Amino acid sequence: MSVHAGTDRITVPAIRARKGGEPLVCLTAYSAPVASLLDPIADLLLVGDSVGMVLYGMDSTLGVTMDMMVAHGRAVAHRCGHACVVVDMPFGSYEEGPEQAFRNAARIMRETGCAAVKMEGGIELAGTIEFLVRRGIPVLGHIGLMPQSVNVSGGFSARGRDKAEARAILADAHAVAAAGAFAVVVEGTVEPLARQITEAIAIPTIGIGASPACDGQILVTDDMVGLFSDFTPRFVKRYAEIGPTLAAAAEAYARDVRSRSFPGPEHCFGVPKTKPKGPAQ
Ligand code: KIV
Repeated sequence: MSVHAGTDRITVPAIRARKGGEPLVCLTAYSAPVASLLDPIADLLLVGDSVGMVLYGMDSTLGVTMDMMVAHGRAVAHRCGHACVVVDMPFGSYEEGPEQAFRNAARIMRETGCAAVKMEGGIELAGTIEFLVRRGIPVLGHIGLMPQSVNVSGGFSARGRDKAEARAILADAHAVAAAGAFAVVVEGTVEPLARQITEAIAIPTIGIGASPACDGQILVTDDMVGLFSDFTPRFVKRYAEIGPTLAAAAEAYARDVRSRSFPGPEHCFGVPKTKPKGPAQ
């Protein structure tokens, strides 16, 4: 059962309380219409910095700016009355230290109306997470494969295959939880490690490419509905094929425009919707 605070809205403490309970259903959203559709269904909607790749065609998430996150965060948060809305902190907006992170996280919270922010990082970020949480900003952690660090880590392969890396990621999980994060995204991590982390820490783990051992799952919505690209990573299940549906609709529209069968009389102003009947014969 979801825990609500007086209204139907799922709060940050309610997400935290789902540890070991009913799995958390989480998706990304970047726009008001998609947020309206997903809000009643999802427990948590993430305005991810994946917006840069999915909507803006960037090669990575590194070019995403604070202004982009604020604009998309506001569009989503203003449409949601049920799901807990979390907005990603973009690359370069929090790594300098707690003060920079607080300034930018406060702007995101104030200008979007979201419930929390998300940041990528483990042990090195624990002090910053604690600083924010103590000052009223709930933080969703993100460990394992961290796309903002891909230039250092060198790729998108699954994390935790060797013992040293697995130990480091487990230590990250402990650090993020001890710092006060209310939940943590575990991305691209082998199943035994995702299971070990989930069993070891007291906050919910939200997996993406991290097995069903996690306390919840998140997918990029556009991946999940076949809208983003032809390449589907192994950890994505496509529940719809919106891409071909959209292309077929555009082709039908193009045919109608070229044959002048669209717009019809019912789409025009000052034209009778049905042809007047001719004289009786
Ligand atoms: O940016 C994003 O959408 C994310 C999710 C994939 C977890 O970080």
